[in-house]
Amino acid sequence: MTEAGGSTSGPAVPAGRLVVLVSGSGSNLQALLDAGLPVVAVVSNRRQAYALERAAAHDVATEVVSLKSFTDTGRTRRDFDAHVADVVAAHRPDYVVLAGWMHLLSSAFLDRFPDRVVNLHPALPGTFPGAHALQDAFDAYREGRITETGVMVHLVPDEGVDNGPVLATVTVPIEPGDSLESLTERVHAAEHRLLVATVRGLLDELLARP
Ligand code: GRF
Repeated sequence: MTEAGGSTSGPAVPAGRLVVLVSGSGSNLQALLDAGLPVVAVVSNRRQAYALERAAAHDVATEVVSLKSFTDTGRTRRDFDAHVADVVAAHRPDYVVLAGWMHLLSSAFLDRFPDRVVNLHPALPGTFPGAHALQDAFDAYREGRITETGVMVHLVPDEGVDNGPVLATVTVPIEPGDSLESLTERVHAAEHRLLVATVRGLLDELLARP
């Protein structure tokens, strides 16, 4: 049964349950929603994240989790991660999608969803991990070290930053006239397409299992 979404045209909406973790604008969440993928809940670690409004506009349940409320009361990051896992688990996800989630998750979270946590990163495998991937790629281009960058979607088995078994990649050429802004725009468009296609594939595969 499809739990959320539902477009009237385009590919069939796969069944399944996705919980999407966000921290910011949520353009990738929007791509999942617009594709009619079955997002059942959105969890943000920032109350102001615009992604929460996008979720609400699609009648998707939202949750806000606060690391500060944990550390202010003497609890640890692992305690927080265990709490986030509880919040996510309550929505019974088939996959947890990290779409612009800016908090490094420990095993207190990851061990609860083995092979079920999917991350999106705006760089190719083994290149430019971390929050400044696009700036780092653009700098590398200007220094003549690369001519293209890209996007990857990968599983998150452990606490490694932006690495883990790769599910899909796409390269994005860097054009001579590019600014950081124009490159960013092109990479984001590639992210939206790759994330939707990869998550759709995961759900289709899940359903096809005996
Ligand atoms: C994306 O570039 C994603 O790859 C990175 O953070 C950005 C989030 O963008 N981890 P948005 O919130 O989906 O618009």
